[in-house]
Amino acid sequence: MQVQVFRTSDEVAAAVADAIEQVLASTPAAVLALATGRTPLAAYAELARRRREGRLDASQAAIVGIDEFAGVPAGDPGSFAAYLEQHVIGPIGFDPRRVERLDGAARNLDAECARYDRALEARGGVHLILLGIGANGHIGFNEPGESLVAATHVVELHASTRQDNASPFGGDVNAVPTRALSIGMQAILGARCVLLVATGADKAATIERALNGPLTTRVPASWLQTHRDVRIYLDREAASLLRGEAVRAG
Ligand code: GLP
Repeated sequence: MQVQVFRTSDEVAAAVADAIEQVLASTPAAVLALATGRTPLAAYAELARRRREGRLDASQAAIVGIDEFAGVPAGDPGSFAAYLEQHVIGPIGFDPRRVERLDGAARNLDAECARYDRALEARGGVHLILLGIGANGHIGFNEPGESLVAATHVVELHASTRQDNASPFGGDVNAVPTRALSIGMQAILGARCVLLVATGADKAATIERALNGPLTTRVPASWLQTHRDVRIYLDREAASLLRGEAVRAG
């Protein structure tokens, strides 16, 4: 596990953008699984800037979504599909025909999850997955619990996760769906390269448990310790509870 700590969240964003730029340069048709959430927004803005400057060409690459709220159609501003549209696909210049989305509005959600796993397999798996981390240690929407799930699946969201996701729903936690679809641990741990990004003091305790703690289904992100190419990008605040030589100042 490679852990890099940067002085500011802007430096984190630039380093994450560098890693994605490198993958696109070496593998133009790479399949990228890209997180939604607040944390990666600065990296997406940086990639969009590089694209405007003509430094970055994402037109051959594919994007696959990581998760989606159940019952929320792609056109809904609260959907992760809308987030990807707004912050990733257009601004960074991905080809809309090369985007695989989980359909939160599908009538049969289990069938949608099974379809999604087949679609990921048909694309040859994921080259790079960029993850954020939930305050409770979730990755994608793989919530902590007695067990974790390998395949794409329907999940009951924890109350704290719904609270954390209230802002795209007008800040009203009751408007946040109670269920979601999430890729499973197999797709995450099967990605050739995993990037995890976290910024801010409110992620520090979770990062410490995920990186230094035991492997446990109570902290889904702890399973990233088993991956052979995982790169963790932190600002000082998110890294403030880490100790040990693993931390290399950026
Ligand atoms: C959300 C999403 C994740 C995201 C995480 C952290 O619930 N399902 O994909 O990475 O929580 O979000 P944020 O970056 O806004 O803290």
